[in-house]
Amino acid sequence: MKLAGKIAIVTGAASGIGEAIAKKLSSEGATVAICDLDHEGGIRVVEEIQFLGGTAAFYALDVTKEEQVQTTFRIVVEKYGKVDIMINNAGIGKAGTVVDQSEADWDLMMNVNAKGTFFGCKYAVKHMLEKEIRGSIINISSVAGMVGVLNRSGYCASKAAIVGLTKSVASDFAEKGIRVNSISPGTIESPWIAKILADQPDPQKMRVQMQQRQPIGRMGTPEEIANLACFLAGDEASFITGSNMVADGGLTAR
Ligand SMILES: NC(=O)c1ccc[n+]([C@@H]2O[C@H](COP(=O)([O-])OP(=O)(O)OC[C@H]3O[C@@H](n4cnc5c(N)ncnc54)[C@H](O)[C@@H]3O)[C@@H](O)[C@H]2O)c1
Repeated sequence: MKLAGKIAIVTGAASGIGEAIAKKLSSEGATVAICDLDHEGGIRVVEEIQFLGGTAAFYALDVTKEEQVQTTFRIVVEKYGKVDIMINNAGIGKAGTVVDQSEADWDLMMNVNAKGTFFGCKYAVKHMLEKEIRGSIINISSVAGMVGVLNRSGYCASKAAIVGLTKSVASDFAEKGIRVNSISPGTIESPWIAKILADQPDPQKMRVQMQQRQPIGRMGTPEEIANLACFLAGDEASFITGSNMVADGGLTAR
């Protein structure tokens, strides 16, 4: 129970990587605020955590709306007294090269991925400073923030923004004991990837391509990203801040 007594907010926690992170933090003793646009999925995750003896509550949240992020912090702090761990995980991806990416899709990805992470960092840091909490903020980027993934111009840009923001916030508040890191996963078998595969003319062929581009020969699991997030959230990572931790089965190694 490495996180006993800690309070965590996880955005995009109704599905995939966010769900796995919320469950992992709970299994280590943290109380978890499950935040998402998706009510049904969020309530399912809360019930599953409670079934296993954990403490969690659902908060409807659109991370692109500053007043909603601010209000979520206020309500979570009123209920649980503080926030020690902030996981900015909510994200969205739309395909397109720079030639055919629409302005609407560009704006959507910048709003959810980059601006949503900015708001999450802003209110987490404000709260941690006010309460003198030596907290941990973890932003979910992607290998797409490090290398050019084909046909993902806006997604790559929005995820690179998260890496830059992470380093900036980490530098500004390191001396206050607030640690800020990003995680860049490779392809992780989440509902998002399941949907991308289902939309392909030949899903099995695409699945094999996704597996083969990662030297380890398979996709990652949401739990493998959750293990890393849990490590970064806890005291074992006390000297790690401003890092972009890559968990990609070797994808960016070659
Ligand atoms: N799955 C992958 O291969 C992969 C790889 C690298 C990075 N990532 C990143 O991991 C994160 C989670 O991805 P996933 O694969 O679990 O996807 P997912 O689609 O399974 O889950 C994303 C969750 O975010 C929520 N969400 C979307 N927009 C939101 C908003 N405006 N406000 C609040 N919640 C919102 C969705 O409702 C959903 O529950 C994303 O940031 C994604 O970019 C995923």
